[in-house]
Amino acid sequence: MCGIIGIASNKSVTSNIINSLKRLEYRGYDSAGIATISKKNLNEKKCSGRVEELEKILFNSPAQGNIGIGHVRWATHGIPNEVNAHPHSSEIVSVVHNGIIENSNSLKKKLEKEGYKFKSQTDTEVITLLITKYLKDSNPIDAVLKSLEYLEGSFALGILFKDQSDIIIGARRGSPLAVGYSNNENYLGSDSYALKAMTNKISYLDDGEICKITKDSVEFFDVSKNKINKKILVLSEDKNETKLGDYKNFMSKEIFEQPTTIKNCLNEYIDKIRNDINLYDFPIDPKKINKIFLVGCGTAYHSCQVAKYWIEELTDLNVETEVASEFRYRKIRFNPNTLYIFVSQSGETADTAAALEIAKKNKMKTCSIINVVESSIARNSDWVVPIHAGPEIGVASTKAFIGQMLVLYIMSLKISKIRGNIDDKNYIEKIKNLKNLPQGIENSLKTEELIQIFAKDFLSAKGSMFLGRGSSFPIALEGALKLKELSYLHAEGYPAGEMKHGPLALIEDGLPVIILAPKDKYFEKTISNMQEVIARGGKVLLISDKHDEVINENIRFKIEMPFIDELLNPFLLTIPLQLLAYHVALLKKCDIDKPRNLAKSVTVE
Ligand code: F6R
Repeated sequence: MCGIIGIASNKSVTSNIINSLKRLEYRGYDSAGIATISKKNLNEKKCSGRVEELEKILFNSPAQGNIGIGHVRWATHGIPNEVNAHPHSSEIVSVVHNGIIENSNSLKKKLEKEGYKFKSQTDTEVITLLITKYLKDSNPIDAVLKSLEYLEGSFALGILFKDQSDIIIGARRGSPLAVGYSNNENYLGSDSYALKAMTNKISYLDDGEICKITKDSVEFFDVSKNKINKKILVLSEDKNETKLGDYKNFMSKEIFEQPTTIKNCLNEYIDKIRNDINLYDFPIDPKKINKIFLVGCGTAYHSCQVAKYWIEELTDLNVETEVASEFRYRKIRFNPNTLYIFVSQSGETADTAAALEIAKKNKMKTCSIINVVESSIARNSDWVVPIHAGPEIGVASTKAFIGQMLVLYIMSLKISKIRGNIDDKNYIEKIKNLKNLPQGIENSLKTEELIQIFAKDFLSAKGSMFLGRGSSFPIALEGALKLKELSYLHAEGYPAGEMKHGPLALIEDGLPVIILAPKDKYFEKTISNMQEVIARGGKVLLISDKHDEVINENIRFKIEMPFIDELLNPFLLTIPLQLLAYHVALLKKCDIDKPRNLAKSVTVE
C-alpha cells in the first residue's frame, strides 16, 4: 500500500515529486524517499516519517535533477526506518515499488550466493539487484523484462537508470499504475490523483505491461516487448473539493458535508418529477436475478451488511455478504443469474479487486459501487454505479460509507420495483422519504455537543461496546471500527442478542456501551439487552428516536435520532457514531486524518 511517482522533464523535478508524494500520502505515510539523476549521479534521499520530513532533508541537502522517482511507504517487509524506505538503489539502478514480492526470500538467498549484498529488510531490494544483474549484458527494457520473469506477487514499479539518465521504466502486475502526459514532461504515478495537479491526460497500464517514459515520449510494451497503443483519457476538473477550508481536518469536513453528499447522490439517481429511480443497464435483468452477492472490505463491507437487511426487506431475493479477503479464497459456486456487487470507495483495494477478478474469470456479470470512477475496480466492472461523494481524504471513511449505503438502498428499491415486490404507492412514498434524508442528517449532526461530553468517558475506559439488532447491527460494527481506528481504543461491535452468549462477561463498572435502538421490530428486545448491561455497571449511551419511552435513571446519556422511514435509520444512527469516534480521538490528541499504522487505500493483500 505505497504510493509511487516518477517524472521526466526538461526542468528540475524535485518540488513536483514532493507535491505528488503529499497527494499520495493517503496510501502510506510511515516513510518517504526520492531519487533523482543529475550529472550522471544517482541522488537518493529518504527518511522515516512523513513527506514533510523528507522536504526538510531536501531543504538542507537538495537532490537536483530533471528526472526522478519518489515513494511513500506503508511498511510490509521491515520496520519503517530510513534504510527500508524506498527508493532502493544499487550503484546503477533505483527502484520504487508498490505491492509485495512473495518469493523475495528465495530470490534473496540466490542473489546473496551470487555475491550481491542487501542493505534493507525489504522485498523490493531483490528487484533492484535483479535488474542490476541483468543490466550487465542487456539494455534497460530487456533487463527489466528478464527480472520480472522471476517475481511472484504484485507490483507497480518506477525504475531509474544511472547510465541512461533520460528514461524511467514503469511496470505493472496486480498493483495499479498510471501514466500522465504534458509538454516537455511525462509522468508515472500510482493513480491519476497523484498526477492531477500536473496533468489531466492519463493512460493506465494493464497487468503485465511496461512503459518507457522520457520528457518527450511515452512507449508501452507487453511482456514480449511488442509495442502497444494506449487510450489517453482526459480527466474531469478537480472542483477544489480537496481543500480544508475552515475545518480543522478532513474528517470533520467530510462528516459535516454529508447532507451535501446525500443531495448530490440523490440528484444523480432520483427523478424528482416522475418519483422514480434512474438506474438502468443492470448487467442482469433484475427479474432474472436469483441472488445478490455483496463484497467489500472494512467500512465498505459494513455497507454491504446493511444492504443485506434492505434487500431482504424490500425484495424476495436471497442475499449473501462476504469480506473480499475471504471471498477470493472461498470455493464459491458461481451462478450466472447472481448479481455480484463489489463496493469500494477507492476502487483500488487489492482484496476487492482480486474478488472482482475471480468473479470475472468465472464469467459472472459484475457491478461495482465506487467513489473514484477512474479506479481499477471501476474500469474492470461490467456496470459501475458511482456514489458521487467527491474525494474522501480522511483515512477513516465517513461520507463514502453514507454514499455507499445510499446507492445500495436506491438499488434495492429499484430491483424491488422491477421485480414487482413493492407496489407503486409504497415505492413513491419511499422515494419521497429519501428527499428528507439530507435534513435528517443535518439534524443528526446537532448531536455533536452531547457526544463531546460523552466522549470524555472514554479517556479512562479500558474498552467499549456497540450493540444493535437488525440493520443497526452493522452500524454498531461500523461505530466500533471508527472508534478503534481513530482513537486506538478497543471497541467491540455486537448483535445485542448475542451478549448473553459470552460478551456480557466484558461488562463492568463504567464500561461505555452504545445502544442503537431505533423504534423498529427489535426495539423492546434491544432495550432489554440494554437493561442487562446497565444492571452490570455499563455506562450507556442510548441512541433512539423513541428514547423517551425508555425509563431507566441509570442511562448516562440519551441521544434523540430523527425519524424519516424505518429503512433509513442506518443513515441517522451512523452520524453520532462518527462524531463520537472523532471527539474521542481529538481528546486523545490522535492524528485524525492519518491514524497510526493505516493507509487510505489498501493496495496490498
Ligand atoms: C475504515 C476504512 C476502511 C475501508 C476499507 C475498504 O474507516 O476506511 O475499512 O473502508 O479499507 O476501502 P475501499 O472502500 O477503498 O475499498
